[in-house]
Amino acid sequence: METFRLRLHRFDPKHDSAPRYEEYEIESDGPLSVMQAICRVYDTVDGTLSLRNTDCRRGVCGICSMMIDGRRRLACTCVAQDGMTIGPPPNRKVIKDLVFEMD
Ligand code: FES
Repeated sequence: METFRLRLHRFDPKHDSAPRYEEYEIESDGPLSVMQAICRVYDTVDGTLSLRNTDCRRGVCGICSMMIDGRRRLACTCVAQDGMTIGPPPNRKVIKDLVFEMD
């Protein structure tokens, strides 16, 4: 079993004065995509985390585009690694946490 630490963007414009990053720890017995790792945080650690769920998860729809360690990448095709920092793209208005306005 491997342990991953992820720093995830948290922000609720209705209640928070500023965005922050929170660190979460999850376990996995094999490689996870960033999207799978975020979903695992939601399922096992913090169900208050907001994320956009989608059935695609194979790099087609683009809905999971995020800033991952400072680079814009698709969370469903990027392999999660210990210590990653994940947030919304810089040019998008955040609705909550990892959910942002789409065009
Ligand atoms: S979920 Fe569609 S591109 Fe990632």
